[in-house]
This record gives sequence, structure tokens and C-alpha cells, in this order.
Amino acid sequence: MSKSAKIATTFGGVLAMTAALGFSALSGAPFLAAHAAEDTGASIMPEGYTGKSGFGLGRAAAEEEIEAWNIDVRPDGLGLPPGKGNALDGEEIFAQSCAVCHGDFGEGVGRWPVLSGGFGSLSDDRPVKTVGSYWPYLSTVFDYVHRAMPFGAAQSLTDDEVYAITAYLLYLNGLAEEDFELSNENFTEVKLPNEGNFYLDDREQVELPEFRQEPCMENCKENVEITARAAVVDVTPGEAEARKAREESKKAAAESGTATDAAPAEEPAAEEEVQAAPAEQEEAAAAPAEPDPELVAAGEKLFRQCKACHQVGDGAKNRTGPMLNGVLDAPVGHVADYRYSKVFKEANEAGETWTRANLDAFLADPRGEMKGTKMSFRGVKKPEDREAIITFLSTFR
Ligand code: HEC
Ligand code: HEC
Repeated sequence: MSKSAKIATTFGGVLAMTAALGFSALSGAPFLAAHAAEDTGASIMPEGYTGKSGFGLGRAAAEEEIEAWNIDVRPDGLGLPPGKGNALDGEEIFAQSCAVCHGDFGEGVGRWPVLSGGFGSLSDDRPVKTVGSYWPYLSTVFDYVHRAMPFGAAQSLTDDEVYAITAYLLYLNGLAEEDFELSNENFTEVKLPNEGNFYLDDREQVELPEFRQEPCMENCKENVEITARAAVVDVTPGEAEARKAREESKKAAAESGTATDAAPAEEPAAEEEVQAAPAEQEEAAAAPAEPDPELVAAGEKLFRQCKACHQVGDGAKNRTGPMLNGVLDAPVGHVADYRYSKVFKEANEAGETWTRANLDAFLADPRGEMKGTKMSFRGVKKPEDREAIITFLSTFR
């Protein structure tokens, strides 16, 4: 492989990663060009480039310098260093080096990226794009973690540690068992669920012809007349009106409990009121005999955020969290063969049960409601979302 071809590989790798992270449309063409250059042995360097003087600036990069940059890993496994690691070891490394930002289970702390779950959410208004739900290739995970993480101490991990963490990320996403060992040997056998939704940039075939058509220049209007201006017909309200409208919709949202994510941080008091209200309402109104199917469906959708840790339905097993069949009205810590936290055990011994109101309070703020709980999950903000989830859970007896 010539030097220039190696540089091409590196470019290809970087662009491939960018593509995987959502910019495929932009980088598809150069990505292909770089690979083509490598396949044919042709150079992407300007004609006349000798590798020595080039443009008359600087010097040629040394082999070792190129090696240091040439760390990309491709979907076909090219570039993988020899090594191995299993998910159990990965869990430990992850807890030490990654969990402060990404959470013990990849659920994301605060606004740091979420690394697990989100399955089936890609077509939602707010898709949860994670390594499991969105990323196309496992090589992207290895490459990214190896290249860029832990944030602030990039490239401080050994190759074996990266294998172990990658295996743990698969486990967190329910894509591997907890003792799964990943190595350069079995790496390419692992397929991520969303691979099929990525494709090479086809705009040249699909879109370009549309824009190449001769524009119609017949039967044009003689002269253009402006009949009204936006400000006059009032499609763009003035500053003062816009502010008033924003405030009103915010107030309405707080009252109906549909506050946006940003709102509660600004108005903690309002948020607390919103959370307290539904519990009271629920105790007043007896639970309906037949759960509302629409609410159940909404709850099923919302339950996706729980699926990284919980299973329900036939054959549900304990995973990171206990299985949740029959949890409504059951004792806190309702599964016999699950190792609960101390706070859960104490609640169980005190005879506490998961009434709707208790579940609602717990789901609103797990760590605030049950101090020391193992459920490291930020909680479900909207009362109506919690109601839907609880109603969904109530269908699993
Ligand atoms: C100090 C906080 C911090 C730590 C510690 C950290 N990360 Fe990150 N991580 C980030 C930030 C910030 C991003 C987003 C970077 C960006 O978008 O440019 C990120 C992004 C990621 C992503 C891509 C997420 C996506 O979907 O785009 C992965 C995978 C990841 N980190 C894995 C890890 C692993 C594995 C570790 C431990 C070895 C780790 N991180 C440690 C802050 C952190
Ligand atoms: C990051 C993993 C994780 C996520 C995500 C998660 N949970 Fe949990 N959950 C746990 C763990 C771990 C426990 C056990 C708590 C303990 O022992 O302290 C638990 C406990 C529970 C319990 C009590 C079960 C019992 O037997 O007493 C309920 C109910 C529950 N979770 C519901 C949910 C719901 C609903 C969601 C989604 C909105 C959710 N959880 C999201 C990990 C998670």
C-alpha cells in the first residue's frame, strides 16, 4: 500500500464514521472516492505530488506519524487490532470511566448522550438514537470509543478494554449475553439492528435528474404585483405579541401538565404541583375495570425507554431490572429471585406495595423517591405519560 493510499484509508475511515453518525448524505461521495482510490491503487494526491516536496511546504509525513493516525476500523473489520474482552469486564471499566456521563446502564446522566435503548423510536417526534437503536455497524462503536472516549482522556484505553466496553454496550442494548466475549475473530459476526436502514448516497441517481429538468419558461406572467406584505396580513406577529403568545402557551402547558422539557428547570415549583396532582386524582377515581386501549397503546410506546432494563409479557426475565409482570398492587420488590437494593428490601419488609399512587411517585423521580435505588433512570416527567405506562403495566398480571 502506498503512502497516499494509506492516507486515503484514514480519510475514508473518518468519513465513514461521520456517515455513521448521521451525515451520510454529505460524506457519501468523498467516502466512495477514497475507497475507489485505494482499490485501484490510484492516488488522491494532486498530480506531480512526490511525497517529498508537495507544494513546497513542510515535509512528508513519517510512517510512524501516519500509523498513529491510521486507527480507523471499517465495517468489514479492516483495521481491527488483535484483542478480546467480555461484557462483564466491560461493565467494570464502563462504571469507572464512562458511567459518570453516560450512566451505569448507558441511560445518560443529565444531557450526556444515551447509549442504550431507544428501539423502535426512530420514527417518533423525538427519536432516541443510540448505539443499539440507530448505529449501523459495530465497527463504528469500536472506532468511536477507541478514538474519542472517555471524553477528555481520548485514546487512553487499551485495545482489550475497548473490546470489553463494546461487548458491554451490546449487552446493555440486549444484543448479547452478559458473559459475551468480543474479539477481532468474531467481531464481524455481530450485526446491529438498524444496519439495513443505512444506504450509500444515491442522490446522483435519485434526485439529480429531478433538478436537471428544463425549467418551464412558457406562459409566464407579464409582471409581478405585490398585493400584501407579511407584516400587514399579520403572519409574523410583532415582538411584544409573540412574547405574550409564548408566555400564554407556557402557562397553558404548565396547567395541563404538558410542560416542555426545558420548562421545569426554570419553574421547579410549577413542576412539583403538576406531579402531585394526578396521584390525588387517581386515588379519588377508582381504577376502571377495562383499561382504555388507547392509554395502553400509548403506555406500550412509552415503555420502550424501560426496555433496556425491564421485560414484561410471556417469558419475561429479570435483566438489569426485575421483570415487571404483575407489579401493580404487588409488594415493593415483587420478584423473588432478583437482588434488590437495600431501600427496596426495607420497603418490602415494611409491607409497602405498588399502588398506582406509589408507582406514579416512583416513576416521576426514582432516585428522589427511593433514595439509594439501583434503578438509575431519570424518571418520567409528564403525569399523563406515567399514567399510560402504569396502565400498560396493569395489563400484565
Ligand atoms: C466527561 C463525560 C464523558 C465520559 C467520561 C465519557 N463520555 Fe462518551 N460522550 C461524551 C460526550 C460529550 C459525547 C458526545 C460527543 C459529541 O457528540 O461530539 C459522548 C459520546 C459517546 C458516544 C457516542 C454517542 C452517540 O450516540 O453519539 C459513545 C458510544 C460514547 N460516548 C462512549 C463512551 C465510553 C465507552 C466511555 C468510557 C470509556 C465514555 N463515553 C466516557 C461524554 C463522555
Ligand atoms: C437503567 C435501567 C432501568 C431503567 C431504564 C428502568 N428501570 Fe425500573 N428498575 C431498575 C432496577 C435496577 C430496579 C430495581 C430497583 C432496586 O432494587 O433498587 C427497578 C425497579 C423498578 C420497579 C419496581 C419493581 C419491583 O419489583 O418492586 C418498577 C415498577 C420499575 N422499575 C419500573 C420502571 C419503568 C416503568 C421504567 C421506564 C419508565 C423503568 N423502570 C426504567 C432499572 C431500570
